[in-house]
Amino acid sequence: MRRELQVARPLFPEPEVLLQRLKSVLASGRLMNGKFTEEFEEQFADFSRRAYAVSVNSCTTALEIVLKYIGVADGEVIIPTNTFIATPNAALFAGATPVLADIKPGTYFLDPGEVRRLISPKTRAVIVVHIAGYIPPEVEEIKAICETHAIPLIEDCAHATGASHRGKMAGAFGMAGCFSFYPTKIITTGTGGMIVTNDGDLRDYARSLRIHGAGKGLTDITNIGNDWFLDEIRSCMGLNQLENMEYFLLKRREIAAYYDGWVNSTGLMEKYLLHADSRHAYYKYPVQITTNIDVGNLKRNFFEKKGYELESVYWPTCHLQPVYQKNYGYHLGLFPVAEATLSRQVTLPLHAALTKDDAEYAFECLLTELEDLEEQRDKA
Ligand SMILES: Cc1ncc(COP(=O)(O)O)c(C=O)c1O
Repeated sequence: MRRELQVARPLFPEPEVLLQRLKSVLASGRLMNGKFTEEFEEQFADFSRRAYAVSVNSCTTALEIVLKYIGVADGEVIIPTNTFIATPNAALFAGATPVLADIKPGTYFLDPGEVRRLISPKTRAVIVVHIAGYIPPEVEEIKAICETHAIPLIEDCAHATGASHRGKMAGAFGMAGCFSFYPTKIITTGTGGMIVTNDGDLRDYARSLRIHGAGKGLTDITNIGNDWFLDEIRSCMGLNQLENMEYFLLKRREIAAYYDGWVNSTGLMEKYLLHADSRHAYYKYPVQITTNIDVGNLKRNFFEKKGYELESVYWPTCHLQPVYQKNYGYHLGLFPVAEATLSRQVTLPLHAALTKDDAEYAFECLLTELEDLEEQRDKA
């Protein structure tokens, strides 16, 4: 029977504690710069094992602030074409040119070889993106390249809250990590973001930029800033989410383990091998369709037929977005690995409220559709 499945959805366990906190915010009349934001930041910094965490209104803002702090204006920022458009857009907002790059075969991650190829005297920063919530070992190779060239490395951790590699948490590889708390993400505040760093000057700069560039206060403007803070209400949501983080990760990993067993048994799709020292946060569960069918055809009308969206991370990639083609001259054929890989990738529904039964249903839907398409192909 057809069901309406959500591919992503937030979960708020222990709502009583959250409601208590929200009531106290409303009663206090203090909606910003309060104790819950401070507590959320402290806990997030501890969780990430970084000295500082500065909350902002989105991950896009977090990236923009870090890039402005580095001073990328008029320079270039190397960014994988496989990311959400917000990543290269943040470079544009900071006055730089995003230089898109291909991914490494067998991964969804920026190719270290591409970083070597694209570094120039104009390079001001490199951004890696922990796609789907997974940090591959290539992060260490890219970090080493950046160190050799004295170029700052930034991590886009929008997908990767709770992910780690060799015991190091997301956000601890570069000079800063930028997180998203958008409703579909591993933890959510409705909208929101966080910068983690060990750099005290970046912390101070971010704190200033998020409130109109305030220095000692709003009568002392020391930077060109914006209205980018995370309020107390959303900070309460963030605390609830952080306190339930281990449960969210456990549930996501449980569902992923079911998918692992099913995917590997079909012969129609495969999952990329994961490094034993990486702890996946499973924001998404991507698979490669290996059977010879048209994946565009598979995706078309899938929601109407099956009741859940067949998404990907990310197809089309940034270099294929119309505005990037029009404004920056990108075109099909520039990044063959990303194009060949991501055009055949789909993601299965995954969130902490998904049951094994839901996952089984979702997987069956994909499988039966693949089998139908194979049959149609063989008849043609
Ligand atoms: C990889 C990546 N980077 C950045 C962002 C932007 O996050 P936000 O919506 O919090 O600005 C997203 C959001 O989906 C994302 O997936």
